[in-house]
Amino acid sequence: MKVIHSKTEMQQLALQLKKQQKTIGFVPTMGYLHEGHRALLQEARDENEVVVLSVFVNPLQFGPNEDLDSYPRAIEQDKKAAEEEGVDYLFLPTTEEMYPHTPSVTVHVQKRADILCGSSRPGHFDGVATVLTKLFQLIQPDNVYFGKKDAQQVAVVAGLIEDFHFPVKLHAVQTVREEDGLAKSSRNVKLSPVERKEAGILYQTLSIAREELIKGNHHLKQLVIKLQERIEKETSGKVDYLEILTYPELEAPSVWEGTFIIAIAVRFPSARLIDNIIFEL
Ligand code: PAF
Repeated sequence: MKVIHSKTEMQQLALQLKKQQKTIGFVPTMGYLHEGHRALLQEARDENEVVVLSVFVNPLQFGPNEDLDSYPRAIEQDKKAAEEEGVDYLFLPTTEEMYPHTPSVTVHVQKRADILCGSSRPGHFDGVATVLTKLFQLIQPDNVYFGKKDAQQVAVVAGLIEDFHFPVKLHAVQTVREEDGLAKSSRNVKLSPVERKEAGILYQTLSIAREELIKGNHHLKQLVIKLQERIEKETSGKVDYLEILTYPELEAPSVWEGTFIIAIAVRFPSARLIDNIIFEL
């Protein structure tokens, strides 16, 4: 595996690979790789001649009071995991390399960005869309892999790819979970032992909500209030949102047929966690 720090070197290499008609599979991450990332890398490895992994904690997608500084980092561990998963190129730029000056141009996400994570993290999806636009230019991927845990991100990126005509195919990969259902996330490491035990409630809540909808309970307001109250009574977490929407449009349902998402974000004292279930009715 070759580690690349320079954006020029990355882009030249990608253009050379394109000339050789090699398919490039790209997994963008912020590092602290876990089994969820490994699942993305494995799918990329199966489907492409060349696999590029990026590890870059993108400051543009963090708000002023968010966890940019305390976001977990472990680059040696990440290099080892990348080697184990057969990554060919690890793109590891510094912040100065990616943002040498205040950006002259950024991408603004118009649709699906002011709800769920977008409403509690204003500007977050603009930051994600901007860094991905830059990374797509540098890496020239044919296929790009994202985890379904960030389902809103997947929907936003689908819009970015379509509207900006990036010749890249988006792959959304199944969420990998711990035994108690907690979705694997780099932020889980920040939880205290007590919070870690409590965090299983996210997936429990999603599963209960899905069961209720399957049973035909469409009294969403009451259902959501009841589930939120339970979380706040039984854990140290505060619910940021718990919503049932159509997917991928992320709109309030008007009919109960089609694809739906139940999405949740809970703020524990040490970390904010998100999760979702996407299902058909
Ligand atoms: O999902 C993430 O880790 C980030 O949002 C991404 C896609 C790498 C962009 O910084």
